[in-house]
Amino acid sequence: MSTESRSYIDLSGRTAVVTGGGNGIGKGIVHRLSAAGAEVYVADIDDSAASAVAAEVRASGGTSDSGAVDVTEQSSADLMISNAIDRFGKVDILVNNAGVGGAAGWTEREEGSIEDWQAVFEVNVLGIVHSIKSVSQHMIDRGSGKIVNIASGAGRRGSPGFAHYSSSKASAINVTQAFAYKLASSKINVNSVCPGIIWTSLWEDISARRLKSSRDTTSTGREYFERRFEGVPLGREQTPDDVGNAVVFLASDKAKNITGQALNVDGGSMMN
Ligand SMILES: NC(=O)c1ccc[n+]([C@@H]2O[C@H](COP(=O)([O-])OP(=O)(O)OC[C@H]3O[C@@H](n4cnc5c(N)ncnc54)[C@H](O)[C@@H]3O)[C@@H](O)[C@H]2O)c1
Repeated sequence: MSTESRSYIDLSGRTAVVTGGGNGIGKGIVHRLSAAGAEVYVADIDDSAASAVAAEVRASGGTSDSGAVDVTEQSSADLMISNAIDRFGKVDILVNNAGVGGAAGWTEREEGSIEDWQAVFEVNVLGIVHSIKSVSQHMIDRGSGKIVNIASGAGRRGSPGFAHYSSSKASAINVTQAFAYKLASSKINVNSVCPGIIWTSLWEDISARRLKSSRDTTSTGREYFERRFEGVPLGREQTPDDVGNAVVFLASDKAKNITGQALNVDGGSMMN
């Protein structure tokens, strides 16, 4: 017989930090965590976007604050975590969502340059490592914690022309497993979520790049994007809220015996 009294997910009393929380998927994650009752610290290199999302949460009755972070810098990640602890007393949940498609101007290049490879590994991989290093001793001391890294379906399969990005996301899945092993003895769960295709500024950039490389001057970016999810088994695009709902589950005690996993939120595009 179940020993749990309630079947819904309640994150009341939990504090979450979301990197890249000012836009796109991160914003959806922030709102879903808040809807589940968590206090959310929104961190982004785009300080004003982070501040606007925190204000939205407060306007809808939630508790939120924000701050600037550049996850490529260990000192900046350290400051993000200490600011969140100063503000809320603790960090129960860390969501490493900040990500980029390449260095400045990457949409203009058909193949990733060395600068693109460096940029994605600095943000999409080292950004995760820095933030986990910043929070892990705090979580170890408390004997609990939930870490969710936003990887990608791209990390499951090499992508011609986008190898720098897809391999950074494969690395994010692998890093998730490494930290899941390392932190398991302190009852800290570390998982990743692999979104499929979601219409954010990142996908606007991807569409623009692909239309340019295929010399398609008539389609809009949105039309190119819509052709991409025609082959998705569930036949529809995914949303930031879909990813946020997966994060809420993985950040909850309902997922207490799940660690080191990569959960696809992609309408069935990848089945593994
Ligand atoms: N959109 C998709 O279809 C899709 C699919 C799979 C995975 N993802 C991943 O989801 C995550 C969010 O992507 P998105 O689509 O919302 O993109 P987005 O560009 O809308 O949002 C990314 C956010 O990360 C922030 N950011 C960038 N560099 C940063 C840094 N150094 N430090 C702190 N913040 C930084 C940006 O300011 C922005 O707010 C990324 O990790 C991305 O790779 C997106």
